[in-house]
Parts: sequence; structure tokens; C-alpha cells
Amino acid sequence: MTDPSFGVNRQGLAHALDLLEKHEFSQASALPPHLAENGIGETAALDLLAPLVFDGAARLDLPHAFAHMDPPTPWVSWAATLWNARLNQNLLHPASAPFARAAERQAVAWLAPAFGMQGGHMTPGSTLANLTALWAARDATGARRVIASEAAHLSIPKAAKILGLTLETVPADPVQRMDAAKLPPNLSDAILVLTAGTTSAGAIDPLSLCGRAAWTHVDAAWAGPLVFSRTHAARLAGIEHADSVAVSAHKWLFQPKESALIFFRDEKRAHDAISFGGNYLAAPNIGVLGSHGAVAIPLLATLLAWGREGLAARIDRCMDAADKLAGALSADPRWQVFAAPETGVVLFRPANGDCDGAFARLPDGLASTTRIGTETWLRSVAANPNVDIAAVTDAVRKAI
Ligand SMILES: Cc1ncc(COP(=O)(O)O)c(C=O)c1O
Repeated sequence: MTDPSFGVNRQGLAHALDLLEKHEFSQASALPPHLAENGIGETAALDLLAPLVFDGAARLDLPHAFAHMDPPTPWVSWAATLWNARLNQNLLHPASAPFARAAERQAVAWLAPAFGMQGGHMTPGSTLANLTALWAARDATGARRVIASEAAHLSIPKAAKILGLTLETVPADPVQRMDAAKLPPNLSDAILVLTAGTTSAGAIDPLSLCGRAAWTHVDAAWAGPLVFSRTHAARLAGIEHADSVAVSAHKWLFQPKESALIFFRDEKRAHDAISFGGNYLAAPNIGVLGSHGAVAIPLLATLLAWGREGLAARIDRCMDAADKLAGALSADPRWQVFAAPETGVVLFRPANGDCDGAFARLPDGLASTTRIGTETWLRSVAANPNVDIAAVTDAVRKAI
């Protein structure tokens, strides 16, 4: 007999969709403290979990959601993710995942040229994309020094530590870009890491430095997708001279986690440096992951559904929202804005210095806090194309 738990249960899946659509439960629910001897069945399991899952998660698509680099995801990506869960393909094995492997090649082939890159592969996030890049850089060039701005993401020191590389930190300028004048004079034996969209301030390091070191890696986890916007692509000019570029698809490509890309200018050189055989594998295992799934399929679904124009329109809307918030607060003497937003990240604070008080008065999900040097700032990130920027601006003004 076939076990029905592994079959398509139309009624059960429709119920899961009903719960997803309902989204707010406000009813008590709790997990049993121990693994139960006997299960409660699939529908009851979903009913028990739904209030915990939905009430315990921020809604990233609400009109005031503007706090983090996490976007809402389009429904087409949910559908493709459901297919992935059902098929559970493993890209390690060409025979069991022929289309999933082709899909990843295709997604990379569609996106890499916009960055001047030749190829690459997907990873579950930019932390791993950055680690992969520094690993390829170390083994392709023999370089042992990593040079990065003090504003680089923590995944850079983490990767340097894992890979046994020494990290030299370069001060950032007043708007959080790497201060090029403070770079060490000789980069010929170094891996230079530039950030396109720093985590705290959204600053873009001088990409004109690409190509000046033994290897240049651009951490474009956040702002990389600006290359698809005709209005904003020029902000990333110079990125095409990098050796590698990391981009999080689960940020401004609107993908469910965990989804990111590592691109290489010379794909063969990089992949040769980070590939392993294995007698049970029909194809070499490239990069950090062993078994991995078909995250390219939801990405392809989104790109097919929207095209470059559709993607760019959503990113442009986000950028426009950030500009509007920064503009409104700059014109209000009760507020200070850190700098004109370069990549949709707005840092602001009350002129009276009461950041904590203002933060406590803001609706949840509208802003986060960050520190630049010793100073605290409120931070909004334009990852939500559904944002109602007039309502956001109004709520911020009332928080003082
Ligand atoms: C600039 C930058 N690099 C890397 C990362 C790490 O990316 P992920 O969270 O996808 O691992 C982040 C995350 O916010 C980031 O802002």
C-alpha cells in the first residue's frame, strides 16, 4: 500500500492555503514539550502550528514594513518552492535532478552577465557566497591577506577566520564608504573585498578599485540587483572588473530563503579551485555545499513572471520610497538624516538625540537600529515594494 503521507492531498494542501490566507489567529497554541509517541495527523499538525508560525512572524508585505533587508516574496516563488519540497531533488546527482541542475545554470547565465561575470553557482546566502569567493580567491591566486572596510559585513571576518587568512581593515569615510586613501599601498598579493550596499548604511565602496588587487571580490549581497534597474545600474559601475560578486537572491531578488548567488569573472578558474570529485559522484562537487536543493526554480519562476522590467520596477519603487522618506525627514528640523540613501537604506534620528524613545514609539517593523561608530541611528531598509511611504513618513514624524 502507498503511504498517503507522501501523496498529493488536495484537501490538506487547500487547508494549508486557507491558513496562509487567514494569517492572523490570535489563539493560544503550544508545542508539546516532548516528542509525542503518537502523531496527531497532518491537518491537526498544521492547525497547531499555524498560530505559532503566523502570529510569531513579522509581515514583510504590510504597508509599513520597512525595517530590514528581508523582502516579501511573490506567490509564484511559493508555488515553485512547494514543487521543490515535493520533489526534494539533490543537485549533487545529475541523474536525479537533470532539470534542477539546468535551472541553476540558466539562472546564473541570465544574471551573471549584468555584473560582467561569466558564471558561478547558487549558495544558501551571501555569508556562504562570500566564503566561497574568498576560498576561490585564496586557492586560485595563493593570496593570504584579505583587505576590507571596517563597514564590511561580519561574514568577511568570519570567512577569513575559517580560511586562515589575515584580515586588514580599512577605515570607512564619513558616509561609510571604504576610504581608498587609507588602503595599504601594495595590493598585488591581496584579496580586496568591496561592499556594494553596506549592511548598516547601504554605502557603496569605490568600485573603481576593482582589479587593483590579486583578486577583487564585491559583496553585493544587498545592492547587487540594482544592475537590473536602468535608473540605478550606474551606481554599480566598475563591478564588471571584479573577479567575483556575491548577491543575495533572498534580499532584492525577492526570493524565499535560502537563496544567493556567487558569480565569477573566470568561472573555470574559480570552480577548478573549489571542486572535489568523489567516487559516488557523477559530476564534481563545486563549492561549500554537499547535498543541495533547487532554489533556482523559484528564482526562474519569478524572473520568467516579471522579466527584467518587472524586477527593476519593484526595485525602483523601493529606491523611490527610500528617497521620499529621506527627503521628508531632511526637510524637517526635528530629524537628522545620516546621508542621502545610495541603495535604499535610510539612517535617521531625532535631532534631540532620543533615538531609543523614538524607536519605542514607532510601529513594529518600520525601522531597526544600528550603530555607526559610537552613535545609534534608526534604520529603514527599502526591501518592500508594497510600502506606503506616506504612512511610513507620517508614523516617523509622530514618533518624536
Ligand atoms: C553586505 C552584506 N553582506 C553579506 C550579508 C550576508 O548575507 P546572508 O544573510 O544572505 O548570509 C549581508 C546580510 O545582511 C549583508 O548585508
